[in-house]
Amino acid sequence: MQTLEARHLADLTFPEVSRALRALSSAYVERRGRLGEGTALSGAGKRAAFALFYGPMHYLLVRAVVRGLPEAAAAGRTLVDLGCGTGAAGAAWATAGGPPPRLVGIDRHPWAVGEAARTYREFGLTARTERGDTSGPWPKSPRAVLAAFTVNELDQAARDALLSRLLDRRLPGDRILIVEPIARSISPWWNGWRDAFVSAGGRADEWRVPVTLPPLVAKLDRAAGLNHRELTARSLWL
Ligand SMILES: C[S@@+](CC[C@H](N)C(=O)[O-])C[C@H]1O[C@@H](n2cnc3c(N)ncnc32)[C@H](O)[C@@H]1O
Repeated sequence: MQTLEARHLADLTFPEVSRALRALSSAYVERRGRLGEGTALSGAGKRAAFALFYGPMHYLLVRAVVRGLPEAAAAGRTLVDLGCGTGAAGAAWATAGGPPPRLVGIDRHPWAVGEAARTYREFGLTARTERGDTSGPWPKSPRAVLAAFTVNELDQAARDALLSRLLDRRLPGDRILIVEPIARSISPWWNGWRDAFVSAGGRADEWRVPVTLPPLVAKLDRAAGLNHRELTARSLWL
């Protein structure tokens, strides 16, 4: 948090970042249809808001999810962080327990890829990052694949292709974790994915995680008119 704060608040004031956070939240909730254009991460303010607010939130959520799923905490040898953003979710899983995996962060957005590389480094993880799409190459099995708050940004064709790639082409020892917001309006495809995971022997869960947010995240939370005492998410695990 200190490193993030020093870098992202070097050229921006707190009111600028909190204004950008409100714009970013509205891009995720009200203007979802335009996410594919990549505008959510355009501009220093929104990038700072993403790194300082959503990154830590996703870190806390994914850490709680992997701790709550028996056998999930140890990610195995290789962890693919799909749609890695700033790398927060991948870092959370990689450091949740067991020997840390080698991380491969993949994102279509060039800023995100650079930011994820820094995050993994801050956590002392061995990692490489790639600019790419969810349909691109992945490291060999056995591997863990994490898609945290990413599947809802895909169009239907990409989403369908990802589901069959995850489930139909998995090999023994592979692990899959999908994490998404609970709001139905954001993930109308959820029930289909949930049924497919459960039929394949996986499980679906909803999470309510009591949190004390880091001070800067709490300040941004209040400035954006939110007041998180708990974080929520749902997950698919196989
Ligand atoms: C809401 S962010 C989540 C980032 C990170 N997983 C986390 O939990 O903080 C979604 C990320 O998915 C990326 N993304 C969206 N569509 C993608 C695609 N087709 N291929 C690769 N990355 C994609 C975006 O650039 C963005 O960084």
